[in-house]
Amino acid sequence: MFTVTPLAISAKKDILDLEARSAPDVPYYYRYVNDVSALDYIFQHPDICQAFGVYENNVLVGWGSYRSGWAGQNIKGPGIFEISSIVVDIAYRRKGIGKMLLKRIIQELLSKSDCHTIYLTVFPGNTSALMLYLSEGFEIYDYKKDLYGPGVHRVYLQYKTKQ
Ligand SMILES: CC(C)(COP(=O)(O)OP(=O)(O)OC[C@H]1O[C@@H](n2cnc3c(N)ncnc32)[C@H](O)[C@@H]1OP(=O)(O)O)[C@@H](O)C(=O)NCCC(=O)NCCS
Repeated sequence: MFTVTPLAISAKKDILDLEARSAPDVPYYYRYVNDVSALDYIFQHPDICQAFGVYENNVLVGWGSYRSGWAGQNIKGPGIFEISSIVVDIAYRRKGIGKMLLKRIIQELLSKSDCHTIYLTVFPGNTSALMLYLSEGFEIYDYKKDLYGPGVHRVYLQYKTKQ
């Protein structure tokens, strides 16, 4: 049985290790090791950002985070939060961990009175991530070809927390 727990900055090495062994690379994903300041940002702004993780035998086997206000965030504005990552250890996939992390992030953001939109971007070939987000009620609303460079396309998905 897996349990989702909030992560503190002390988990930084665990996150980088997990991503080194299990996160896909460009064009699918940008590993935080390439911009550790983006990871620090999450822990430095606990009012608008949060990371969550799943441990087994003291090893981080899944993590996910939301953020707002980050300079690199490409949809900005009050009440808009981005899911900045969900990564599950390759050996632990299809066991429901990604869905647990996503549900926890949504639950936390639903409890924020100022949050009206959760969004994220996904590489169009990332079927597992697309299926995960669509299965939890996210809807595709945009597509940008070459958003982050040649071949690095992104599908935009959103979840409206207020009717
Ligand atoms: C996307 C990812 C987080 C899913 O994690 P996971 O723990 O394997 O997902 P879950 O077991 O919770 O699956 C939840 C749902 O996602 C979908 N899904 C997950 N993997 C899938 C796959 N390989 N093919 C199709 N659908 C898939 C299914 O709808 C699944 O529900 P089901 O098992 O009831 O059919 C994982 O594949 C991963 O870490 N990928 C690399 C990192 C990444 O690309 N992250 C997304 C960008 S931020």
